[in-house]
Amino acid sequence: MKIGLLGHGVVGSGVTAITDSCAVKRVRRLEVSRILVKDEAELTDPRCTLNVEEILQDPEIEIVAECMGGLEPAHTFVSRALEAGKHVVTSNKKMFAHFCPELCALAAENGVTIRYEAAVGGGIPWMANLTRVKRLEPVQSFRGIFNGTTNYILTRMEETGMDFAECLNEAQSLGYAEKNPTDDIEGYDAKYKAALTAMKTFGAEPDLDAVITYGISTVSSKDLAWAKENGRSLKLIAEGKDDGDSISLWVMPVFLSKNDIFANVRENFNAAESDSKTLGKAVYIGQGAGSLPTAHAVVQDLLDIYVNQDAVPEAMKKRTVYNGNISARFYIRTGKPELFDAVTEQKLAEDTLLTKEMPLSEADRMIKESGDAALFAAMVAGE
Ligand code: HSE
Repeated sequence: MKIGLLGHGVVGSGVTAITDSCAVKRVRRLEVSRILVKDEAELTDPRCTLNVEEILQDPEIEIVAECMGGLEPAHTFVSRALEAGKHVVTSNKKMFAHFCPELCALAAENGVTIRYEAAVGGGIPWMANLTRVKRLEPVQSFRGIFNGTTNYILTRMEETGMDFAECLNEAQSLGYAEKNPTDDIEGYDAKYKAALTAMKTFGAEPDLDAVITYGISTVSSKDLAWAKENGRSLKLIAEGKDDGDSISLWVMPVFLSKNDIFANVRENFNAAESDSKTLGKAVYIGQGAGSLPTAHAVVQDLLDIYVNQDAVPEAMKKRTVYNGNISARFYIRTGKPELFDAVTEQKLAEDTLLTKEMPLSEADRMIKESGDAALFAAMVAGE
């Protein structure tokens, strides 16, 4: 089965590394015949081309694997591949979180499928397991550590005392971070993955702008010192819950108790947990970023298409995101602590406080109204 690969960066080069050398007979039958690269410097392989038409108009290519990242031209190329009757596999969470319902409908219209295992949780078989759980019962809620870069940074800061910028540099050099790491450190990458998980688990199409999203760009070693003194671990968590009429969906750093299994998920590893009636909580842990683990998930999707396990794209309906039911205490470090006097339960330092238990949506409103761009906010889970 011939495959056209769009992009030969961190993930795309991992795909050819696996498909070109894998000894498994079935994988050997997956032939990457053309690779779209972005400039002449990348024309390192005879299969490389700068012209996407050589892939989109090649009738022998049955699957297009999109590993370019970014919204455009990835969205246009994927739409055109589906319209041309080609299956699509994508690792592009940003593009797919924005266009998933539209692209699933386009796939269904053209009698092909679109798979996106690598878009969430890197190498973890998260979508595959959610599909299995959903065969028996609805998934009521999920949570995840969905960003490898921030997990790597927080782990390194906690374990070595290095500063944020130095740890980010390391994550970039290991190929974990996006080209522009803003999406990682501001929590947007985790938001896209949480939205895709909500689409899969709840059949919900959420308004991405309504997902409360905080990242770790303002974290300091003081915050990790507080975590250590209090037997906690700081993680960037995404959570979603089906509340019936609405869904809750948010991304925020959380000080977890050390007893929480997620507290021990280190470096570039991701974790994903689903909760459903008879299975209860099921947790999956694996490398959430990096060339080969992510490429592994792409190749698994290619194989699923090859052996004809095409998932029928699922219908989704628009659902309101409402985070007023989520209640917690919040750790806030800010140059304007007086703005939080009415909700302060404990002062931790001149510039740091713990709030009393309050709705996440209310904490979000107060933080935004403070206008303090250097503010660091995190949820404190449990006692
Ligand atoms: N930049 C992403 C991360 C890559 O750090 O998780 C994998 O999606």
